[in-house]
Amino acid sequence: MSVRRLAEQAFQPASFAFTEANLEWAKHTINKYPEGRQQSAVIPLLMRAQEQDGWVTKAAIEYVADMLDMAYIRVLEVATFYTQFQIVPVGKKAHIQVCGTTPCMLRGSEDLMNVCRSKIHPEPMHLNDAGTLSWEEVECQGACVNAPMVMVFKDTYEDLTPERLAEIIDEFEAGRGDQVKTGPQTDRVFSAPATGFTSLTDETVVLKTTRDAEARANGASAAGVEAPSEAARPRTDAIETNPAFATPSPVKVSPSTEAAASVAAPAENKAEADKSVDGEPRAHADKVAEPASAYKAPELSQETAKPSLDDENRPAGIERPAEADDLKLISGIGPKIEGILHELGIFTFAQIAAWTEAERRWVDGYLNFKGRIDRDDWVKQASALATGGEAEYIRVFGKKPR
Ligand code: FES
Repeated sequence: MSVRRLAEQAFQPASFAFTEANLEWAKHTINKYPEGRQQSAVIPLLMRAQEQDGWVTKAAIEYVADMLDMAYIRVLEVATFYTQFQIVPVGKKAHIQVCGTTPCMLRGSEDLMNVCRSKIHPEPMHLNDAGTLSWEEVECQGACVNAPMVMVFKDTYEDLTPERLAEIIDEFEAGRGDQVKTGPQTDRVFSAPATGFTSLTDETVVLKTTRDAEARANGASAAGVEAPSEAARPRTDAIETNPAFATPSPVKVSPSTEAAASVAAPAENKAEADKSVDGEPRAHADKVAEPASAYKAPELSQETAKPSLDDENRPAGIERPAEADDLKLISGIGPKIEGILHELGIFTFAQIAAWTEAERRWVDGYLNFKGRIDRDDWVKQASALATGGEAEYIRVFGKKPR
């Protein structure tokens, strides 16, 4: 980690001022804090200054300090401490922040820095010849499980190889940085194990109880309350679409064994389990453990018959087009499901957007999704993506796809 100093005076502009919109936003942000705590807005204000001019100038630091009635040195301390703040001019097309902390270092961050040295500049915090790119080494960015990684602006690029980083740098230099896939650069799903799960491979175990499994299958909570909206519901697509869940557990537990393990205490321990700490029988002991014979295996663990491929409601497939859409942009579709859809001849958003109710039911049954296609509204998602790509998706759903 190198010492962070403000850019030399020659690079510093004479003054700084928020644009009208940013000034309005800054005042609103300051007002969020209780009386006497307005200085807590220092980080968001500095970040907005950086987003406005590309880096945090000395004038911007003084401007923010004046707004918050802080000593200049206090704001300077904040700006120089956090590596998210660029205190010298950086590449406007991309500033590559390479994590060099231990996990990333052990997984090849030095090779990534060599790519930056050869493609951008031999020294960190220097612009390339075109003045468009720069790089630096930073401390842990919190994506260690997918090491090595870099951050560009607010996005992370993980599971990198030197070759992939070189491609990403080229894309940013060509002005196509916004089209580069963020996150893992492999088939890994979020931060799931790259080679598939080695434990908790049975989702009925993950969901813990029959009621949880049924609740999720029905889209409603076990307590019978309204199912949460898509926006409020925790993301479970990683679990549902991870190929690891398609792999049978190496140790197959029979429902009766599972029942005995998860519901009823072993017979020899049951008497102990039914006692409270003072040795008296528990008043609710009969609710804690039910006889194994009363247990029913969760529905999700049972094989469900797939609809026939010859069924008239199977949506029509097409030959793979030269450029298939990235169906994984639809929430609920991961690499494995996308592969199955391809096998069915589904390659474009327009195809999914045109599915009838009967066709949706057929695909849902084929994937054993128990209504998820409608709950996640694949048709609406696909329709937005087919109509106007990511921009239309953001307009409709208020967030980026995936
Ligand atoms: S060590 Fe690199 S992201 Fe944490």
